[in-house]
Amino acid sequence: MVRYAIGNWKMDPPTRREAELLFSSLAQELGAQQAKGVEVVVCPPFIWLPLIAEYAESGTGYALGAQNVFHEKKGAHTGEVSLAMLKSMGVSYVIVGHSERRALYETNAIVAAKLKLVLEAGLKAVLCVGEKERVGDWHEFLKEEVEEALAVVDPGELEHLIIAYEPIWAIGGSETDTPDDALGMAVFIRKLMQERFGERGGSVPVLYGGSIEADNVAPFALQEGIDGVLVGHASRDAGQFARIVRTMAGEA
Ligand code: PGA
Repeated sequence: MVRYAIGNWKMDPPTRREAELLFSSLAQELGAQQAKGVEVVVCPPFIWLPLIAEYAESGTGYALGAQNVFHEKKGAHTGEVSLAMLKSMGVSYVIVGHSERRALYETNAIVAAKLKLVLEAGLKAVLCVGEKERVGDWHEFLKEEVEEALAVVDPGELEHLIIAYEPIWAIGGSETDTPDDALGMAVFIRKLMQERFGERGGSVPVLYGGSIEADNVAPFALQEGIDGVLVGHASRDAGQFARIVRTMAGEA
């Protein structure tokens, strides 16, 4: 079974030099990890993708991901980045519907359009879902996020889909969810997938994200039912991200 360690660098590092440094330290630290059952994915900002593409292509042990994509294939869209551009840069994973994008303007319908583009192109989509707070009918909120995105997915595309459960209140380093509750939510999401797609839906990987660091990753990522982690701030520290990967590979 493959576990996923996906690093989301968000809007960092701020300079080209620091970006190159982070890439090269990661390449050194993560060289041989892929063989050990952990798929390592690094998602830098768009502007640093060309820098890192070379490392990824030369087989350093991690795959290249994008943090976002525009929801239309082509057209006059100033400042946007298309899926074709990402693909030609060697990107094989695309994060879709991160809560920080949803907070800007992305509705479930826009997220669904992005998801469809990524899956149709045969790239892996990392669909992010998660509640703002655990009050009221928050299961219903999550159900809507999942179901509105899934409405566009064909069963044949499921092998390219990964879902990341990221409770918004847990993002940013303040507190994590508890491993038990995160597992409960992964089970809930898997049930929704099964209702829509049958058994096949249940095999879509479900990850946890939200304040994962080297010291707390084990109880999340090593339990059965959570297939890996989406890591924000801790992925911008090469040593710490490598420790996360080693823990997941059972080596730390
Ligand atoms: P964090 O971010 O690890 O800094 O909480 C996670 C995410 O936003 O994907």
